[in-house]
Amino acid sequence: MSRFLITSALPYVNGVKHLGNLAGSLLPADIHARFRRQTGHEVLFLCGTDEHGTPVELAAHAAGVPVADYCARQHAVQADIYRRFGLSFDHFSRTSGIANRQLTQDIFRQLDKAGFIEKRAILQAYSPTDRRFLPDRYVVGTCPHCGHANARGDQCESCTKLLDPEDLLSPRSAISGTTDVEFRESRHLFLKLSAFDGRLRDWLATRRNWPPLVRSIALKWLDEGLRDRCITRDLDWGVPVPKDGFEDKVFYVWFDAPIGYIAAAIKWSEAAPGRDWREWWQSGADVTYLQFLAKDNVPFHAVSFPATLLGSGLPFKLVDTIKGFNWLTFEGDKFSTSAGRGIFTDTALELLPADTWRWWLAANAPETADADFILARFVDGVNKDLADVFGNLVNRCLAFAAARFDGIVPPAARLGPLEQQLALSLDTHLANLRRHHESLALRKAADEVRAIWRLANAYLAEAAPWSAIKNDTPRAATIVNTGINLVRVAALAAWPFIPSSAAKVLCSLGEAADAVPWPQDGTQALSAVPAGRRITVPPLLFPKIAVADLATT
Ligand code: MF3
Ligand code: ZN
Repeated sequence: MSRFLITSALPYVNGVKHLGNLAGSLLPADIHARFRRQTGHEVLFLCGTDEHGTPVELAAHAAGVPVADYCARQHAVQADIYRRFGLSFDHFSRTSGIANRQLTQDIFRQLDKAGFIEKRAILQAYSPTDRRFLPDRYVVGTCPHCGHANARGDQCESCTKLLDPEDLLSPRSAISGTTDVEFRESRHLFLKLSAFDGRLRDWLATRRNWPPLVRSIALKWLDEGLRDRCITRDLDWGVPVPKDGFEDKVFYVWFDAPIGYIAAAIKWSEAAPGRDWREWWQSGADVTYLQFLAKDNVPFHAVSFPATLLGSGLPFKLVDTIKGFNWLTFEGDKFSTSAGRGIFTDTALELLPADTWRWWLAANAPETADADFILARFVDGVNKDLADVFGNLVNRCLAFAAARFDGIVPPAARLGPLEQQLALSLDTHLANLRRHHESLALRKAADEVRAIWRLANAYLAEAAPWSAIKNDTPRAATIVNTGINLVRVAALAAWPFIPSSAAKVLCSLGEAADAVPWPQDGTQALSAVPAGRRITVPPLLFPKIAVADLATT
C-alpha cells in the first residue's frame, strides 16, 4: 500500500478563520486524508498555524500582549475549532516553534553554502509616522500590471502577480494610511530564484497531472521570468537570520512557513515513540505528497518552496500534486476577516453541527471556479441533501426495522432482480466515487455520495417493504435486510465528508466506530450486516433548518 503525506496550507495564527479558509484547503485536505485512510493507506496529515509576519505582530500589539503569548493563545483557539470541525490532523503544529526555527536556519545555511544566497542593499519602505520599516504587504498602492488600486507590496490580489513594494504606484502605509512612505537603504539577503528556472521546468514537466488552475499559475510564473526574492526582513518577530551582519533581521514569513510542513512532521515524530518523520519526508517512492491550498498560495508552493528545497541539496520530498482552490465568496462579495464579513468558523459551530457545514462546503467547493455562499442556497441544499435524502433514508429504514422486526436485522432470502440490479448500480457508483476521490475531484465525489443516498431511497420506494409486509413477510425481511445494508454503505461513503453523523449511523447498526472500511463491491456491501444483529434508530440526524436560524447579529 502506498503512503500519503497530506498537508493543508497553514492558516495564519492571527484571528479565527472564516468558512472560505475552511472550504479552500483545510476541509478538502481532511476529506482526502479520510478517504485514503478508509481505503487502507497509511496517511500523515499535517497542518499548523503560520505564526510569523507583521499581521501577527500587529494583532498582538492591538491585543496588548507579547507576540509569543498571543500566538500561543490563538493557536489553541484555532486548534480547538478544527478539532470540533472533525479535521483529523495527525499533528497541528506551529511555525514559531523550535523545530521550525532550526530547520529553517539549516536550510538557509545550505542554500548559502551552495551559493544561492546573495547580499544586496535594497530600498526598504519606512514610515516616519509609524516609526518603523513597513513590510511589503503593509505598503499598498496601485498595481503596475493591472491597475488594481489596492495592491499590496508583496502581491496583487487581483492579478496574483508578485510585487516588490517599490513597484507600487502612489505607495502608502497600510498601518496608518500615511503617504509619507520613504525608501531607506538596508542590507538584505536574496534567494536566487532565477538560478532555478531550468530545474523547476524539468521538475514541473514531471508533474503532468496537476489541476489546470495550479499548473497554469505555476507556468505563468516561470514564463514571466523568475525574480530573485528578498528573504529577510527588518523585524523582531520571526526566525532569526543566522549570518554575520544580519543578526538583527528575521526571515520573511513565506521563507519559513512552508518549511513548517516538515517541522510539523518532526514535532509529530517527537510526540510519540516509534514515529520517524524521515520516513515521510526523506524516503523513497512509496510516499505520495499532496498539498491543498488556495490559489494565491500556488506560487509559493509550486515555485519558491520547491526551489528552496532543491537548492538546499537536502533530500526532502517535493510535492507530487498540488490541489488549488478558487475563492469562496459570501453573498456575492468577499469574505473579509478585517471587515468581519461572512461567517467565521467559531460562529459556524455555534449555529449548526460541523457536518452540516462540511457537507455543503465540500459539495459546493470553489473547485473549478469561485463559488458563492448564499444563505438561502445553503439552507436549501443541506435540507434537501442531508434531511430529505440521507437523514430520511436512515430514519425510514431503521424505524421500519425497529417497528416491524423488533430492531433485529431480518434474514435475507435469495436476492431478487431488483436487488441484483441494485448491486450493479452500487458497483458503478462506488467505482466512480473512488475515482473522483483519487483525482481530487471533490464536488464530483460529493455528487456521487448523494447519488448513492438517492439510489438507496429509490430502492426502498420501489421495493416498498410496507406493502410486502402485509402478505409476504420473507420478502419484506429481504428488503429490510437490504435496506439496512444500504444505510451502512450510505454512511461509509459519506464518512469522509460528514464523519460524525456517519459514525452515529454506523454505531446504531452495531458497527465498530473506529473501523470505517471502504465498501468493496456492491454484492458484498449488500450482505455485510449479519442477520440477527440488534440495531437501534439514531436520534434525528439533521433537523431542517431555516435562514432565520443563521442570524448572527
Ligand atoms: N498562512 C498562509 C495563508 O493563509 C499559508 C501558508 S502555507 C505555508 O495564505 F505552508 F506556507 F505555511
Ligand atoms: Zn495586479
